[in-house]
Amino acid sequence: MNDFTYCLPTNFVFGKSKETETGAYVKMYGGTKVLIHYGGGSVKRSGLLDRVKASLEEEGISYVELGGVKPNPRDGLVYEGIELCRKEGVDFILAVGGGSTIDSSKAIAVGTLYQGDFWDFYAGKLPVSEALPVGAVLTIAAAGSESSTSSVITQESTLTKTSIKTTKVRPKFAIMNPGLTETLPPYQTASGATDICAHVLERYFTNTPEVEVTDRLCEAILLTMIREVPRVLEDPHNYEARANIMWAGTLAHNDTCGVGRQQDWATHHLEHTISALIDCAHGAGLAVMFPAWMKYNYKHDVARFVRLAVNVWGCEENTDDPEETALAGIACWENFFRSIGMPVRLSELGVTEAEIPKLLELLGGDDHLEGNFVVLDKKACEEIYRLAL
Ligand code: NZQ
Ligand code: ZN
Repeated sequence: MNDFTYCLPTNFVFGKSKETETGAYVKMYGGTKVLIHYGGGSVKRSGLLDRVKASLEEEGISYVELGGVKPNPRDGLVYEGIELCRKEGVDFILAVGGGSTIDSSKAIAVGTLYQGDFWDFYAGKLPVSEALPVGAVLTIAAAGSESSTSSVITQESTLTKTSIKTTKVRPKFAIMNPGLTETLPPYQTASGATDICAHVLERYFTNTPEVEVTDRLCEAILLTMIREVPRVLEDPHNYEARANIMWAGTLAHNDTCGVGRQQDWATHHLEHTISALIDCAHGAGLAVMFPAWMKYNYKHDVARFVRLAVNVWGCEENTDDPEETALAGIACWENFFRSIGMPVRLSELGVTEAEIPKLLELLGGDDHLEGNFVVLDKKACEEIYRLAL
């Protein structure tokens, strides 16, 4: 196991009706003037936004609001949010929504205190030194942004979808009522679930030896997802299954499963170019790219793929032909994603061979490398996109 420092200060407020306590938590973390940031309207339709506002009013906290965050959030609304926060003297950003809303909130939190262009941080020109505090009321189990240190934004003019990674934007609190996810369309539930599995897999595929405790945590989360996702798709009102998925989503991406080990992340970057180009759900892109990445890379460490196949999918180990077991495990992933309604080929997303050069261009320059488990050059990335066609 590698050495690590791990501080997870997010306060998780988990359970039924917890959104009615939002105001108290904003107050606890020093918010006096809040920007409520939200997406395309689901929080209005469900009545959640009104409950959150009422909770702020109960605590005597004033607020302004900015809706309209789109999935795969864009820089345009971030600039608007920054201007609004400066004009109104906002000192706390409250995200009410999913990963896109939380990520847009994090970007506004960083940009409000910076006199230059907030994109400088996303372009990697300088590290983030300060940000307004952010809190989240989560409405979808997926990206894990409610306690992650990342924010992913797309620059519309270039279609560059890229991230910052800094503890400065880790939410102070996350209000997590699994019941709020009952209004999700099945496709979004499945897409979020796929993202959760992918966050674990990005960490599971490591060259760091002897990380048994995090290996087993990873396997426990994956087993949970495989059990619970079909249950919520069958019965969207299954609160207990939704609760397990929601907590799994948080554990999958707050690095509980990643400490002490090298992580990969090539598949995420291969996917981000797709959701930037065609604006698909991030999880749907991952359902296509992860099986392809696995098929391309399994020979690097067949034993690790065999372990995953046996421990998570219950595949019988073929000791004479370990590659057969590894491939059986990969097939299980593909079948699982398909069974929950996800695409598993680029063609199902409407992406053709003709678009591969554009995806490669969005990935980075000619000498760009991806991943750690196996370091991939542009040629290897191209082959993985082709495997996904
Ligand atoms: O915009 P509204 O109307 O709210 O609708 C949203 C949106 O259309 C809808 N939705 C959310 N909660 C709902 C609901 N509809 C009905 N009932 C509810 N309770 O679902 C749609 C998707 O929402 P979005 O926020 O985009 O989903 P998700 O949480 O999957 O976030 C995806 C974004 O997060 C990024 C992705 O790349 C993508 O841009 N990621 C962020 C990460 C991070 N910050 O740590 C890590 C991830 O790997 C990921 O890259
Ligand atoms: Zn993800």
